[in-house]
Amino acid sequence: MMLLPIIFCLLVVQFCEVSNAGVTSRYVRKLEASVDMPKQCFPPPPGFNAPEQVHITQGDHVGRSMIISWVTPIHHSPNVVAYWEAAAAGGHHGHKHKVHAKTTTYRYYNYSSGFIHHATIRRLKYDTKYFYQLGKHDVSRRFSFRTPPKVGPDVPYTFGVIGDLGQTYDSNQTFEHYVSNPKGQAVLFVGDLSYADNHPFHDNERWDIWGRFVEKSTAYQPWIWAPGNHELDYAPEIEEYMPFKPYMHRYHVPYKASKSTSPLWYSIKRASTYIIVLSSYSAYGKYTPQYKWLEQELAKVNRSETPWLIVLVHSPWYNSNTYHYMEGESMRVMFESWFVKYKVDLVFAGHVHSYERTERVSNIQYNITNGLSMPVKDASAPVYITIGDGGNIEGLASSFTEPQPSYSAFREASFGHAILEVKNRTHAFYTWHRNQDNEATAADSTWFYNRYWYPHEEPK
Ligand SMILES: [Fe+2]
Repeated sequence: MMLLPIIFCLLVVQFCEVSNAGVTSRYVRKLEASVDMPKQCFPPPPGFNAPEQVHITQGDHVGRSMIISWVTPIHHSPNVVAYWEAAAAGGHHGHKHKVHAKTTTYRYYNYSSGFIHHATIRRLKYDTKYFYQLGKHDVSRRFSFRTPPKVGPDVPYTFGVIGDLGQTYDSNQTFEHYVSNPKGQAVLFVGDLSYADNHPFHDNERWDIWGRFVEKSTAYQPWIWAPGNHELDYAPEIEEYMPFKPYMHRYHVPYKASKSTSPLWYSIKRASTYIIVLSSYSAYGKYTPQYKWLEQELAKVNRSETPWLIVLVHSPWYNSNTYHYMEGESMRVMFESWFVKYKVDLVFAGHVHSYERTERVSNIQYNITNGLSMPVKDASAPVYITIGDGGNIEGLASSFTEPQPSYSAFREASFGHAILEVKNRTHAFYTWHRNQDNEATAADSTWFYNRYWYPHEEPK
């Protein structure tokens, strides 16, 4: 007899969990095939051995260095970057400095790369515009960037967030929407760049095409790279055994500055943020290098200096799409309790080709005998955002699990990108823009409150 009220209560709890679930957007994007843009869309720049595929990223831990990377197709020379401070108030350009690059090449199956150059320019002034020039004489090309403001707790800064971009017509829409938005000062890129591996023999020319495709942003503002599964290029069937070979030759990151032993995981500080990049496709079990590094790294973060603690990782820990379902689960089990302990603000992931934002939840009570295996609301937990919706050749992941789980606040199967505007130590405004009829439409926006300085519940 006593069982009946208990069963009734359990049913009520179950019903509440379902009815508390978030929004599954009713917007239905036209599901057309995503195909890669023809190679001819992105020819090399004119001129013999002209520098191409230019991209920059932060070159140290605090933002006073920049890694300038580019490719010359025929010769290794010139491998010099000249740079100078843009005109100051008096109208005078700064002195010209020159730095030699380290140059590398690689072979992949029947492909031979061009000469890939990486030059780190150091001791830059904060919050200052610089010009830089690659190549010589009639084939020289000039670009510019602005260094970030000095690291500090209330320094505003705005990031674009993009994942799984690829090089289709949809990728082009996402990219153009980001480029046409003047707010973004740097990009947090959550992995899966070129999708060259979806072509026969991992056609590495697609890596070159992708470098040209994104150059009009990557040459002018730093993209902070995280590795995805499409960077692995591990292909024993064609005797390519070195994981991440094209990616690690082409995209250098300042991993040594954060005492990491691998470019696949590292950290930087930028303005008021501390950004940790993890690798879903490198060992992260107990005692592994990535595990030990992250354990020490999280303890180092000083929230009085960088209030915003943000993690980039390719495979999402919380996502309710049927595509790639629970692939991030083993890493969640390893690291989630640390994220709660250290009050990580935001985790951006990609991999699943649709958009989703979670409530602040954790699932760290479970210990195999206690039966506590459900995510619960947790004010110390991050918001998990899946933004693998850049628009690549594999198309949208439009099949969500039903009913929408209570941890899921908003989800939609559209392509798009996001803008994260950090305002000060307590507030950041976030907007996800879907690609809708050739326009970027703000489809999900919210304030985020900092977990260390203002750990209140955000408005719905
Ligand atoms: Fe992926």
